[in-house]
Amino acid sequence: MQAIPIAENVHWVGAVDWDRRLFDALIPLPQGTSYNAYLVQGGDKTALIDAVDPTMTRVLMDRLADGPPIDYIVSQHAEQDHSGAIPAVLGAYPQAQVVCSPQGKSLLTAHLGLNEAQFMTVDDGDSLSLGGKTLQFVHTPWVHWPETLSTYLHEDRILFSCDWFGSHLATSDPLLQDHGRVLLAAKRYYAEIMMPFRNIIQRNMEKIEHLDIGMIAPSHGPVHSDPARILAASRDWISDQPKNLVTLPYVSMHGSTRVMVDRLIDRLSGHRVPVQRFDLSATDLGELAISLVDAATLVIGTPTFHRGPHPTVYYATHLANALRPKLAYVSVIGSYGWSTRAVEEVNALIPNLKVEVLPPVLARGYPPPESLAAVDQLSDTIAQHHAAQGWDLPTEG
Ligand code: FEO
Repeated sequence: MQAIPIAENVHWVGAVDWDRRLFDALIPLPQGTSYNAYLVQGGDKTALIDAVDPTMTRVLMDRLADGPPIDYIVSQHAEQDHSGAIPAVLGAYPQAQVVCSPQGKSLLTAHLGLNEAQFMTVDDGDSLSLGGKTLQFVHTPWVHWPETLSTYLHEDRILFSCDWFGSHLATSDPLLQDHGRVLLAAKRYYAEIMMPFRNIIQRNMEKIEHLDIGMIAPSHGPVHSDPARILAASRDWISDQPKNLVTLPYVSMHGSTRVMVDRLIDRLSGHRVPVQRFDLSATDLGELAISLVDAATLVIGTPTFHRGPHPTVYYATHLANALRPKLAYVSVIGSYGWSTRAVEEVNALIPNLKVEVLPPVLARGYPPPESLAAVDQLSDTIAQHHAAQGWDLPTEG
């Protein structure tokens, strides 16, 4: 297998996982993924930046086979999809040192059982010369573990960012130029993995603002050869300003909740407030996460199931709380049979969301006219709040 050049004496040596459909036994991967590793060859020394998932060790070793000996393995992130092949690399190049943050050393020791003597820890701002190639290490914690590093290659203006700016997108071309497709996949990745750390990422962005970045090389998905696009998109995703958008996940067992959902959408459409609707009995939760990157308001549609919300709503609401999106408002609509505590239980599921809870609308059985009028009132309230804030309409990607 070949090493693919991305700059002079800088090669992509990763592995494409076309068939993987789930990450962390949780996150859907509709387009597979890649585990990117990069070989940086200086006049004196050679560094491997990240490794690959242990299931793809053979691919990495094959790509390295005809290259120079490795002196340094820069482990930017200890999660196994980037570190799992390090023991095999050390087996082939026993003189190599593992370069990482101090927290990275602790985590790599715990997860891979590496020998302490094999580490070289680097502080924020430290540099390592390979001879005509200089690696500068930037501590960028919580993208998305506490130990995460980014590495800036001065001479080639490349920022290696590991998971940060990554995308789960399997392609045959590490330099894929299909920017729209890459940005959408990167937004999904941000939504699913990075969004809970939005505030910390704002600080990490400040740390790289002064760098002259000509290329961003993440450890999943294609390289960003036009970094202005992904940087602009990322600034938008992590900003404190939501969009004029309602996210509406719902389940309907017998159609009553769906009537209320459709009424809300119709009324909001009249106000020119976009709604993204997700039938939780069929939706890809990654799509819901993408919507939550931008949404100002979350309206949860649920029938009552044993007094509480439907289990799929319970799960989706728990997920929304974990992702900590920049929502401003939340409400609940839905139908019940004889009694309900759906609203109380939904509200108890969202302690992380710093939101105003708008009056819910619960109908007993098929929604009577007064319940539909209450849905209209809720729609009007949402539209008024959005208009008062002057939030932008969402854009694609
Ligand atoms: Fe791609 Fe956090 O590992």
